[in-house]
Amino acid sequence: MSAPILPDLADLRAAVRQWKADGQVIGVVPTMGALHDGHLSLVRRARESCDRVIVTIFVNPRQFNSAEDFARYPRTEDSDAALLAPLGVDAVFVPDAAQVYPPSHATVVSVSGISEPLEGAHRPGHFDGVATVVTLLFNMTQADRAYFGEKDWQQLQVVTRLVQDLKLPVEIIPCPSIRADDGLALSSRNQRLTPQGRAQAAALPAALFEAARQIESGTPEQQALASALATIADAGFGEVEYLELRDAATLGPVLPDRPARLLVAAWLDGVRLIDNVGVTLP
Ligand code: PAF
Repeated sequence: MSAPILPDLADLRAAVRQWKADGQVIGVVPTMGALHDGHLSLVRRARESCDRVIVTIFVNPRQFNSAEDFARYPRTEDSDAALLAPLGVDAVFVPDAAQVYPPSHATVVSVSGISEPLEGAHRPGHFDGVATVVTLLFNMTQADRAYFGEKDWQQLQVVTRLVQDLKLPVEIIPCPSIRADDGLALSSRNQRLTPQGRAQAAALPAALFEAARQIESGTPEQQALASALATIADAGFGEVEYLELRDAATLGPVLPDRPARLLVAAWLDGVRLIDNVGVTLP
């Protein structure tokens, strides 16, 4: 059965009020649409462990760095609805921009520190947009649990910090990245690659995993990263915005005995791809 599509906050609130009154646990999967198997894995995870599942679809203008990127973001409402239909979702909340950000809207949620390096340095204001909309979506859905993919690792850490700092009554559930057979992490942006670009793109996770393996087996970090950069360039990528080993939780410098994460952002075919992998320091 297809999930009811709720464009109005009043209708969502009425449903949520009833579910809460019945003592039900509510899970939310926040998305910007253009759904793929990565999103569906989050929905399945929520379905397994919550009484009610809400998927939100809102292409958040405040997290894009240019009007052009916002305009080009894929909007695939019909296929999104078809993909969600078999999954037993209780509500799909699709607010319009005027509901989320009425003209009087004046509040920005900003998570300092963790939002600043990597994505934050290359996409100024991006995480303020994410933190603001995620706070709004949590308040609108009143969810007990929220499901986020590890593909956007820094976003996951920013949202985790936000929830702890503001003491929001929602539990963040991290979910592993879903990859295509050749290793490329699924992303709505992959649709914009040409067939040739799509074939070249698998070099990015391959280089990332190889660098992680080398660092874990004792190769000096700079040597492993230099060799990964050469592989990425040879595969036809353009600019690599960053390829850095960081503390997995703070995204500051790596520390002994703490989980580390290797993160990358690189351009191919006019498309910006990001990826990351866990590293256990030797
Ligand atoms: O990861 C995304 O799709 C977005 O950043 C999110 C969390 C839905 C906020 O707009």
